[in-house]
Amino acid sequence: MIKKCLFPVAGYGTRFLPATKSMPKEMLPVVNKPLVQYGVEEALDGGLNEICLVTGRGKRAINDFFDTSFELEHQIAGTDKEKYLSSIRKVIAQAKFSTTRQSEMKGLGHAILTGELLVGNEPFGVVLADDLCITEDQGVMAQLVEIYRRSNCSVVAIQEVDEVDISKFGVIAGIEEEPGLFTVTDMVEKPEPADAPSNLAIIGRYVLTPYIFEILRHTPPGKNGEVQLTDALLTLAKTSKVLAYKFKGRRFDCGSVDGYVEATNYVYENIYLKDESR
Ligand code: UTP
Repeated sequence: MIKKCLFPVAGYGTRFLPATKSMPKEMLPVVNKPLVQYGVEEALDGGLNEICLVTGRGKRAINDFFDTSFELEHQIAGTDKEKYLSSIRKVIAQAKFSTTRQSEMKGLGHAILTGELLVGNEPFGVVLADDLCITEDQGVMAQLVEIYRRSNCSVVAIQEVDEVDISKFGVIAGIEEEPGLFTVTDMVEKPEPADAPSNLAIIGRYVLTPYIFEILRHTPPGKNGEVQLTDALLTLAKTSKVLAYKFKGRRFDCGSVDGYVEATNYVYENIYLKDESR
């Protein structure tokens, strides 16, 4: 079964400058938890407890975050502030972490290929932590794992987006096999609205078979001179099968200021204020 979840967290986060000049965008807090913690909790919810981080320069805070801070633990032991650490303690107890570094930011596809060292020859999940997904029950990764179990092929999470936003995404064309589940026939990275094959956009959650590494090795840089995961996924869709699943839940683009503010308001009102243990 799938045990590993890859977190490419090496990107520059330019849309969030100057905040991300010396701080990873994955450490931006949505209310009181950093984005990367939400992502790891979602992976754990899907049964993936081997967390593989592809980091880069200036991302040390992410690794430190998943270490026990003995000084802090000592300071607050036995006080009523201990409850603030309970969620991260749980994550640290359940997850195993490994890290590698992407020495040059050559795109998401390149970051995933860099993660091969940690993933090896097995199917794996991918979480882009700046896409925050909030669901009522099962997390999005758990939803994808369930589809993988039935189909044994790569699965990407998709959502319907408005025409004005389509050029921010990778967009699929597909054949609907059952409600909300498509076999991918085409994919275009960040198309102009007129060239978009549908309104179904790929978001930052994937379950991939290890064959993707072989394809990425031979994928030339595409848009912006970066190795695009979308290009490799299209090759995968043409040589084997890729499914696209309209996940249940809401996604916020926390890599953008607008999405981040929207997420913060939503989580504050719908999760934080309702949490009686806070
Ligand atoms: P984004 O394009 O959203 O991230 O990549 P970015 O480049 O950090 O952000 P902007 O556009 O400059 O604001 C999606 C994910 O892929 C990772 C990012 O960290 C993010 O989680 N990524 C991207 C890498 O790990 N390496 C890269 O070379 C590029």
